[in-house]
Amino acid sequence: MSQSYIQSATHNGVLTLTIHRPEALNALNGDVISQLAEAIDIAQTDDAVRVIVLTGSGEKAFVAGADIKEFADFNAKQGKNLAQQGQDNLFNRIERSAKPVIAAINGFALGGGLELALASHVRIASATARMGLPEVSLGVIPGYGGTQRLPQIVGKGKALEMILTARMIDAADALACGLVNQVVPAEELLPAAEKMAHSMMKNSPKALQTAIQAVLAGYEDGINGFDAEVSCFGASFDTEDFKEGTQAFIEKRKPEFSGK
Ligand code: CAA
Repeated sequence: MSQSYIQSATHNGVLTLTIHRPEALNALNGDVISQLAEAIDIAQTDDAVRVIVLTGSGEKAFVAGADIKEFADFNAKQGKNLAQQGQDNLFNRIERSAKPVIAAINGFALGGGLELALASHVRIASATARMGLPEVSLGVIPGYGGTQRLPQIVGKGKALEMILTARMIDAADALACGLVNQVVPAEELLPAAEKMAHSMMKNSPKALQTAIQAVLAGYEDGINGFDAEVSCFGASFDTEDFKEGTQAFIEKRKPEFSGK
């Protein structure tokens, strides 16, 4: 049996998944990827979980990237498989999670580590975090969605600067370019992520899921995001959460959403 690299704790609706591979700065090897993917999958059907927080163990690293030692002697076919399987099994699943995913970036988020944060819906960084896509310094390029999601979030110009220079940026620069949503002192990182999670949890779980779908639709090939929004908006009217949310407003009380 392989070692367990994911620590999981649920508290008041918030599932915190901590990547724990300190000896390699939490780098993503095959086991970390499959265990994290499994934890994300389980969370989708666990009624006790409303929001997922992803973080890294220790103070030094969120995730220092894909495991360089694992792929150092790969050929082109193996490299392609690595990227395809990582994207299919983990990164796309995080982005498509029906429950919001918040990345709590506690240190180095490099390569696949930053890509993990980019696939998350919201990013909060500790003031000491450093972020970058250093792949070209290794003779390779980002393979877990970085060339696509980084430009979506910070714009093409800044993304190309980060990818082509391979330089890390600090938390203040990441906030300035919109790479992260919030920067907090290191000791306030998990409380800030929980606070953000609770702001989301006040809302309809069904509507959160539908809103994520509608936003993602605009980035999918061959799909008109505005049309997708119209369909998603319409579908909301048939949900119990919509009936409850509007009724609670009219009755001047707090809604009690079922998530249906
Ligand atoms: N893969 C495998 N092992 C890693 C690793 C990685 N991405 N990052 C760090 N480690 C290991 C180191 O090899 C070292 O192990 P040993 O003690 O056994 O030698 C241990 O973690 C501690 O790291 P350092 O001694 O290097 O720590 P440092 O403080 O001197 O430097 C760092 C920290 C700047 C983050 C440095 O570790 C580093 O540059 N790491 C690699 C970052 C990187 O290039 N990431 C991109 C990977 S490629 C990728 O992600 C491809 C993709 O998109 C799919």
